Amino acid sequence: MDRTRDSHLLEVENLSRSFNVRRGLSSTPFLAVDGANFAMPAERHEILTVAGESGSGKTTLARMILGLIKPTDGRLAFRGREVTRLNAAERRIWFRREVQPIFQDPFAAFNPLRRIETYLYETALNFQIAKRANVDEPVDSALAAVGLSLKEVKGRYPSELSGGQLQRISIARALITRPSLLVADEPVSMLDASLRMSVVNLFRTLKEQQSLIYITHDLATAYYASDRVAIMLRGWIVELGPVEKVLGNPLHPYTQLLKNSVLEPDPANKVQTKVVLSASDTEDYFRTGCKFAGRCPRVMDVCRRVVPKDVFVDGRTVKCHLYGN
Ligand SMILES: Nc1ncnc2c1ncn2[C@@H]1O[C@H](COP(=O)(O)OP(=O)(O)OP(=O)(O)O)[C@@H](O)[C@H]1O
Ligand SMILES: [Mg+2]
Repeated sequence: MDRTRDSHLLEVENLSRSFNVRRGLSSTPFLAVDGANFAMPAERHEILTVAGESGSGKTTLARMILGLIKPTDGRLAFRGREVTRLNAAERRIWFRREVQPIFQDPFAAFNPLRRIETYLYETALNFQIAKRANVDEPVDSALAAVGLSLKEVKGRYPSELSGGQLQRISIARALITRPSLLVADEPVSMLDASLRMSVVNLFRTLKEQQSLIYITHDLATAYYASDRVAIMLRGWIVELGPVEKVLGNPLHPYTQLLKNSVLEPDPANKVQTKVVLSASDTEDYFRTGCKFAGRCPRVMDVCRRVVPKDVFVDGRTVKCHLYGN
């Protein structure tokens, strides 16, 4: 096996996924994820945040990485193995243990009529982490990692627990298999602002044991939680690099607008915020040239004609004609 590939936990190369949308009377395929490229190292853990407006393709990317939907193009490899080529046993016994999801809505994740611990036991048994007689041990240690214990949660129903506690339990569920990658899609968006930071803090602690892909709209928690950030726009990753570069000193005009719209309370920016965050216009997907050209404050002629390439500038990758050449 190729050694360079072994050194990666995850490789995403030109990864794309198309869906059909209605345009007028006909149905046209459009790329919800369009040629995504990045890799996560195997030798150290990191938190990679994927941020971007609604409809930019974050969940589609996450679902491909989790093996829940197939890419239509490109390569997706986990520890050097192509995810789409795994056989059923490898997928079930290896891949699904290794790459675990954390879902958005802790209230929807649990059936109100079932005791909480049944989910945890089921995960341990389904993934053959322990035999029935010894199943308490991995469940308790996963709960310990999120600051809870089996003693505290055993026998309780979802309605008896707070949203924050439920989200911790759903994170514990994901930890039972001892995964090396967690994929968390908007994991704090259903929680009160006061609880968000505590869950994001928990992610920083969990990073000691595994890497995490953290999907969010919330640049404030992204800033705090991430090692690297990928900014998505209409299926493209338009800027990717260390958080202090991408959010500290954004180069892509879209990242700049996104940052200003979130971090500046100035009411004069309100109108601009609306423009930036509108996601209903699918025409951007079919634009020739840059998908941001129609909204970009720094648009040039070339942007309307030529698709920008990924260029490496000042420690990060940017997909923009302003840079390179
Ligand atoms: N199964 C599907 N069939 C058709 N279109 C889809 C499907 N899943 C997603 N899409 C479309 O793909 C685009 C990207 O969707 P996706 O859910 O990945 O965005 P997102 O960045 O996660 O958005 P949000 O922030 O709202 O969660 C959207 O235009 C969406 O409508
Ligand atoms: Mg989503």
